[in-house]
Amino acid sequence: MVWRERDMTEQALVTEAPAPAKAVTMPDAQTVTAVAHYTDRLFSFRCTRPASMRFRSGEFVMIGLMGDPDPATGKQKPLLRAYSIASPSWDEELEFYSIKVQDGPLTSKLQHIKVGDEIILRPKPVGTLVHDALLPGKRIWFFATGTGFAPFASLLREPQTYEDYDEVIITHTCREVGELTYGRDLIESLKTDELLNEVIGEGFWKKIKYYPTTTREESAKMGRITDLMRSGEAFADLGVPQINPETDRAMVCGNLAFNLEIKEMLEGYGLEEGANSKPAQYVVEKAFLD
Ligand code: A2P
Repeated sequence: MVWRERDMTEQALVTEAPAPAKAVTMPDAQTVTAVAHYTDRLFSFRCTRPASMRFRSGEFVMIGLMGDPDPATGKQKPLLRAYSIASPSWDEELEFYSIKVQDGPLTSKLQHIKVGDEIILRPKPVGTLVHDALLPGKRIWFFATGTGFAPFASLLREPQTYEDYDEVIITHTCREVGELTYGRDLIESLKTDELLNEVIGEGFWKKIKYYPTTTREESAKMGRITDLMRSGEAFADLGVPQINPETDRAMVCGNLAFNLEIKEMLEGYGLEEGANSKPAQYVVEKAFLD
């Protein structure tokens, strides 16, 4: 089964070809199988998955490339960063969603990867954005800004999300409209995903309420999700009551300021932070920034 053909729109795919057989030249090397660019700041890619690697949807791994040779010794060291796995646990490949920072140590290089190139992937997944860290509830909120959408791209394709909850609300706040494309296309693709509709149940995607907002470019809904919740507008738009600890659970992934602000708001609604070792009502993870 060729998953990548189902998961990305043809339009978004820039390069795609069978990965050529290549000698492994780096430790923990995996081969890039697809790359898609969305804006001058965002891209996604897929790569092979180590046969023995297991993970829970929502977790992250360390990935990267070899750094430049040390001018004195000529030695190269791996340059690694934490990246949420954007593909679900059942996918035979791995997918990542990344920012491009022109002078970023890793992403200035990573943004140029092509099909057939190798990346380094340490196969030790960890993270707090997992279903095991939450107590049962009725409604799950996924709060993302920017590339913080990545773990939710995994969780939105994870059958357990729909087994555990009646409603799945995904909010995504970005600066510009183009930055919503990856998430919007992914959610749209669920409607026609025959396998997921068969495995999870026909029309499972009807449980999803998608709430994209932009802050620096005109769109259908403008503003930070935090402000839209404080004013009550987000709840009215979504047709749901204000968050409460009896029914609502939340996962948060965005920039640091966002995470801190929404954490305070969730605590204000009466939710308590959970962990793998002590499940509760919400969990938070920082989105990768180079
Ligand atoms: P804004 O444009 O008002 O700063 P970034 O690309 O810098 O990581 O930001 C992604 C999105 O997160 C932007 O739309 C940004 O809005 C928003 N954002 C940044 N800080 C916060 C915060 N404290 N609360 C809510 N949204 C935030």
